[in-house]
Order: sequence, then C-alpha cells, then structure tokens
Amino acid sequence: MNLIKVKNYDGMSEKATKLIVNRIHAIENPVLGLATGSTPEGLYQRIIEKYKQEEVSFKNVTTFNLDEYVGLEQNDTNSYYYFMNDKLFRHVDIAMNCVHIPSGIAEDLEKECTAFERELGQAGGIDVQVLGIGGNGHIGFNEPGTSFSSRTHVVDLEKSTIQANARFFHSIEEVPIQAISMGIETIMSSKEILLLVSGEAKADAMEKLLLGEVSEDFPASILKKHEHVTIIADAAALSIAEGK
Ligand code: PGA
Repeated sequence: MNLIKVKNYDGMSEKATKLIVNRIHAIENPVLGLATGSTPEGLYQRIIEKYKQEEVSFKNVTTFNLDEYVGLEQNDTNSYYYFMNDKLFRHVDIAMNCVHIPSGIAEDLEKECTAFERELGQAGGIDVQVLGIGGNGHIGFNEPGTSFSSRTHVVDLEKSTIQANARFFHSIEEVPIQAISMGIETIMSSKEILLLVSGEAKADAMEKLLLGEVSEDFPASILKKHEHVTIIADAAALSIAEGK
C-alpha cells in the first residue's frame, strides 16, 4: 500500500482529484468505482471545478457505486443515488445510462445484486475504486465479519454504522438497517484502489489498518493484499498510527 500523507481534508481532496483526473485522461473508457459519505465530497467538488474549466470530461466514463440503502427511493435525499446525482453527476457530462448504483427498492434484492455484478463484469471491471473507511474498518457497507470472498450482497448495518450515519437523518429511527453493498471480493477485483482517510475519528481505524493483521474482523485490512492501493491520509487520521 502506497501511503501519501497530507496536511488536512483539503490536501487529501486535492491529491485525490489529481489522481482521478489523471486516470480519466490515461484510460480510454475509464470505469470508476465511487463512494458516498463525507470523505469524497471535497474530491467531487474539485472534479466539478475541473470539468467547468474544461480540464476533464465524463463523456467516456462509466461508474459503479459501492452501496445503497435498502428501502430508500432514488429521489429520497438520503439515498446514495440522490447523493451522487447532487454532488457530482448532474454537474458533469456523464451519460446517466453509464451510472450504476444498486437499487435499494428492487423487489428482489438478491436479483439486483446479481444484475449489478453482471453489469460490472460486462463493463470490464473497475479501473479505479474510490474508498472511504468506517470507524469499525468497514469498506463499502461490509461490516466486520464479512467474508473476504463476498460479492455484491445485502447487508445488515452495524449499530455503530447506523449511529455514525444518523447525522444525515432527522432521527436514528429513520436510518435504514440494511444496504446493498459491493462485496469485499468485488472491491478487491478493482485494478486500482484509492482509499481516502481524514480526521481524528478515523485515527483508530488507520492504526489498525497500518499496524494490524489481515482479518475479516477488520474488513479494510484485506487491502494489504491488493497490488495497487494508494492511501491518502491526513495528519489527524494518522495521529495514532504515527504516535507509536
Ligand atoms: P464517511 O464514511 O466518509 O462519511 O466518514 C466513510 C465510511 O463509512 O465508509
């Protein structure tokens, strides 16, 4: 894993933008794996700026998102479809038929997972997957204990994840308790992975990732087995790992 240390959130977003724009230019028909949450927002804002300055285009880009809540409609402001559209897609020239986000309201969720995997295969797999990390080490919504050989699946969210995400909802009762998530093996089959980590709340997870063992109890630890991972982490996120 290649670790790039930056000062703060802006530094992380800046570096990530450079890397993603570079890959969009370098790859003929790039397939990007995208993430939601607070971590990649600065990246998306900067990409939109680059698009406005005509420094990047999404005309040939296909995207696959990591996850979606079960039970939320696309136009629900808390759905990840809404998030992606609001924070990135509607501001750039991406063809919406090239956007893939699992549907959390599909009648048959298992079928939805299979269809998502099939479309991913048809697109030739992910060139670069953007990832955040949960305080509990989750990647996507793959909570501790998830099998490393999992493919896209329906997951039960951990209490700590529900609590962490409650900040976006009116009350904790409104937070969905299930999601569809790319599996760990799905994520690991990406050609390149870009993990973004910022803030003190992630310091503990960063210490476990950098200094701990590879274990299903800490899903992100599998990234050590991937050949092409770049971590961009800020000083606060590294404060515990580097203090040792
Ligand atoms: P965050 O979430 O970017 O909102 O911190 C990351 C995650 O839980 O994977």
